[in-house]
Amino acid sequence: MRLRPLIALLFGSALLASAPVHAQQKPDDVIKFRKGLMQVQGHSARPMGQMAKGEIPFDAQLVARNAAMLELTGRFIAEGYPAGTEKGASETTRARPEIWSDTAKFRQNAEQFQAAAAKLTEASKAGNLEAMRPAFAAVAKQCSGCHDAFRVK
Ligand code: HEC
Repeated sequence: MRLRPLIALLFGSALLASAPVHAQQKPDDVIKFRKGLMQVQGHSARPMGQMAKGEIPFDAQLVARNAAMLELTGRFIAEGYPAGTEKGASETTRARPEIWSDTAKFRQNAEQFQAAAAKLTEASKAGNLEAMRPAFAAVAKQCSGCHDAFRVK
């Protein structure tokens, strides 16, 4: 049967196409993704830090929007560190080797961050600074906790 190898070939490539996308990405691209994700987190968290310190006026809409962004991006942190992305070809990374040697703890940190971000989203519904402040402080504590353990200074 001449068709068989053809079918096997087509079927095989269909299987490949359905494999997780990040498994086929170059380490540099994955590193760009995770650094970009972190830039978004920094961008989303910054105004809330400024509001907490009274540097800019409280803005309930901005808080709700940015809290939602932190919660969403938090769900993607762990997948930015697949095996083989410890180093890039040209992309620099500050990810510490502990991410891969103590993956369970890293994932736990990511989950704790998500939980804190979900609480911030909840708190943002109150629409006032008093509710935002402690919830934001809890999120910020998770950012620095993870950075202390898993990011090169
Ligand atoms: C579960 C761990 C974890 C959490 C939670 C986390 N980060 Fe990070 N962050 C990292 C790691 C690891 C890197 C280094 C990534 C790299 O260089 O490949 C990083 C890098 C960064 C960077 C530098 C990105 C760049 O372009 O090099 C910024 C900014 C940042 N994080 C902000 C934040 C903020 C703000 C929060 C909280 C709102 C946060 N991170 C929460 C682990 C975390």
